[in-house]
Amino acid sequence: MSTTLLNHPMVTHEQWENFTQTDHNTWKLLFERQSLLLQKRATQEIILGLEELEICNNQIPKFSALNSILERKTGFTIVPVKGLFPDDLFFKFLSERKFPSTCFIRKPDELDYLEEPDIFHDVFGHIPLLVNPIFADFMALFGRKGLEAYHAGMLKFAATLYWYTVEFGLIQSTNGLRIYGAGIISSKGESIYCLDSEVPARIKFNALRAMKTKYHIDSFQRTYFVIQSFQELFDALRNLDWEEVKKTCMLFPEIKQGIILNDQEKIS
Ligand SMILES: [Fe+2]
Repeated sequence: MSTTLLNHPMVTHEQWENFTQTDHNTWKLLFERQSLLLQKRATQEIILGLEELEICNNQIPKFSALNSILERKTGFTIVPVKGLFPDDLFFKFLSERKFPSTCFIRKPDELDYLEEPDIFHDVFGHIPLLVNPIFADFMALFGRKGLEAYHAGMLKFAATLYWYTVEFGLIQSTNGLRIYGAGIISSKGESIYCLDSEVPARIKFNALRAMKTKYHIDSFQRTYFVIQSFQELFDALRNLDWEEVKKTCMLFPEIKQGIILNDQEKIS
């Protein structure tokens, strides 16, 4: 199975040598900007992950170097790919503890706007949490559950859950609200907005509620779901039965972003 996946035409070879000095300078700029900003905004596990993986400002990291640490910690490896995957294939990779990452970096004139994920988003945003054993288990489980969703005709719902957790999730810590979603972690503007703005609704995480909430791919979110711990996230996913989800989801319409439905949804 693993060998077949690695032979997929979307998989490529790491060609780190092809990065130019301009590319490395872009990484340095993004790394330094986000590291400073995230000191008191990101969940501690991300700061620890960056340190453990020795991801730093001086150059774009090599997947081979990251993998030698990551694989030892949680069995995950980064697989270089040519671009965005269809969701079912992406989940297949996750189920085998393989994280597909793009191999290009944005241009200096598009630091804050990207049409599709680049290596800064994939590596700086996603990889540090894969060092955490519970989060790594959650991601591998997401792969298996995502494939189940595909076979149950529920892929859209699994993708929405992924969006509101892995990409745009917030977590309650002893130091207050913190960011863990990679889509926020790799964005300067949303790192500030998601915690400081009065515009978005920040509500208690509920998997069904998240799956029924509309999301926007071209603007900051107006709803964020807040978890208490990664264990809560893992347990919620483990308990999902797609046939049950299908029945429940049929019962109520899609929910607009930016609203709190009742007091139970409010975070303290
Ligand atoms: Fe992502």
